[in-house]
Amino acid sequence: MTLPASDAAGRKPVVKVVFAGHVDHGKSTLLGRLLTDLGALPEGKLESVAESCKRRGVVFEWAFLLDALKAERDQGITIDSTQVQAESDNRRFVFIDAPGHHEFIKNMVTGAAQADAAVLLVDAKDGVQGETRRHAFLLGILGIRDVIVAVTKMDLVSHEQARFDDLAAQARAHLASLGFDLDRVNAIPVAARDGENILTRGGAMPWYTGPALIEYLDALTPGAAGSDAAGGPLRYIVQGVYKFDERRILAGRIVSGSLAVGDEIQFSPGNRRARIKSIETWPRPETPAGRPERADTGQSVGITLDQQSFIERGAVGSHPPALPHLVNAFRGRIAWFGTEPLTPGARYKIKLNAGEYLCIAEQIEHVLDAGDLSKSAASSVTRNQIADVVFRSRGLMAADAHGENPATGRFVLVADHRIVGCGLIDLEGFADEQRTKGPKSANILRVEHRIDRMERWRANGHTSGILWLTGLSGSGKSTLAVRLEEALFRRGKQVFVLDGDNVRHGLCADLGFSPEDRQENIRRVGELAQILAHAGVIVITAFISPYRADRDGVRARAGDLFHEIHVSADLAVCERRDPKGLYKKARAGEIPEFTGISAPYEAPFAPELTIDTAHENVEACVDRLVEYALSAFGGNGG
Ligand code: ADX
Repeated sequence: MTLPASDAAGRKPVVKVVFAGHVDHGKSTLLGRLLTDLGALPEGKLESVAESCKRRGVVFEWAFLLDALKAERDQGITIDSTQVQAESDNRRFVFIDAPGHHEFIKNMVTGAAQADAAVLLVDAKDGVQGETRRHAFLLGILGIRDVIVAVTKMDLVSHEQARFDDLAAQARAHLASLGFDLDRVNAIPVAARDGENILTRGGAMPWYTGPALIEYLDALTPGAAGSDAAGGPLRYIVQGVYKFDERRILAGRIVSGSLAVGDEIQFSPGNRRARIKSIETWPRPETPAGRPERADTGQSVGITLDQQSFIERGAVGSHPPALPHLVNAFRGRIAWFGTEPLTPGARYKIKLNAGEYLCIAEQIEHVLDAGDLSKSAASSVTRNQIADVVFRSRGLMAADAHGENPATGRFVLVADHRIVGCGLIDLEGFADEQRTKGPKSANILRVEHRIDRMERWRANGHTSGILWLTGLSGSGKSTLAVRLEEALFRRGKQVFVLDGDNVRHGLCADLGFSPEDRQENIRRVGELAQILAHAGVIVITAFISPYRADRDGVRARAGDLFHEIHVSADLAVCERRDPKGLYKKARAGEIPEFTGISAPYEAPFAPELTIDTAHENVEACVDRLVEYALSAFGGNGG
């Protein structure tokens, strides 16, 4: 969150600084020293903690100091396991311990505890290590731009200038390769044990003429990490929807840009539009005149809209046409800290802005060397590795490429309720469904029906949707589709089959089997299926629909009406069946671009249902489909 330069009481501006770097590189000493020199520790605290460590024969750790301080909450200082406060002449500081700590990463990525700057520690003796580089990478993910490279333990290398210059250059080169602006990176040699260059410049390194650490910290700007976002496009992250008296209030955070009363806002991924009626504050001002007219980056505000739209937590509000991308898949440059390796095909929850999406790790493109970022192939990503991984979700996600909007272009990976990684979003090569959604023609409006979906569902006694069967030719789609249609019809359901061969005689008679034609085939059928589903019909489709992106496109349009069902059978099985004799012809080279032979089939990664026709007979398959359909469309929509 962007903090005010000074608060209402005229107190000093608050700066949040995170301390990162290898565990053994002197962080405890540096932090302990800083707190001591700033007079933030109760008299004798550091010594007594160090003494008790010694007595217990354990190495002094920063955490012990925090524990000791926690016991003294009566002083009114807010401390949790990772944060501690201190004050200089010009600033109030919140020092935050170490990225790599799960809770910390989570807070940073969700914006709950955005640090303004970082101190990156490098041990003068040990040099720049893998962990130093990884932490630098994490700082980048967390949106931090101001970095102070503190070369620690200078006393161990005889305060040698050459060593400092070398390490500072290495650290700067690495930060530059990660995209940091070197104008905002400073390096400083310190010997925390002796207090050299901490509060003031010491005498041991006369060759160093720059500011002491505290002077650097004193010069930091509050809210600097998010400062680029202020001029960016609006991204208002909805964190909750509340009902107060008669008002429906969206509560959210502006992570970039600004908003004002009267603005037209589009909420993605649902793409509902409405105008901002009011900006709400607590307590509510007595008169409308007291209410704010606009709000800016970093502010958490409630808004009301001019119409009751269905908007959920996780929605991203923006000003058209500067919308986020809508994607089913993206490439994430991730830092992985799960104890189990990340493997292709595994499912993870992705937390993106305030939204949660179930995703599959589709492909590991490569892992990157944390040092020189060189790439190599890998079949899994192990703890502490950095990798480029393609993730695919069932639903549409509203996302920005990190390069375009750092505030919304990052995400967290969760497995079993634990954060196992975080990353930056890269959308290069991924289709933006937002673009394909808009109509080509101008001056077209929507005619509102006087009967809605719910009313139709109640009249029919069941809900509706699309059962999208996908699979190879000969896998059994058409057979199952018509059997399922019959079974549901006999149970009194409104149901209809759309079949590939049938629509290709009419609606799609102009289309062949090139990737473009198949895309258009699936688009048209998807639209038709959606119209029928809105009319209250359970639609069963039987199309090869070999391209994942095309099916994702239908899902994007149809939303929760869409149920993807993989009718699965090996190519060998389908070829043996060859009900239409087409495989034989295709093998003989008589049918070009035949799916499975000379054209690809991309199986779904996360279908709602898989029917294995190679190992189950038709009756068993139909039973499973009927069971699925009855549970999916059984109710009448409430
Ligand atoms: S899709 O790829 O666009 O989804 P669709 O399901 O409509 O295909 O049509 C597939 C049917 O067309 C097959 O069952 C088969 O009978 C026939 N067909 C003719 N040529 C091809 C081909 N090159 N590839 C696949 N199917 C073909």
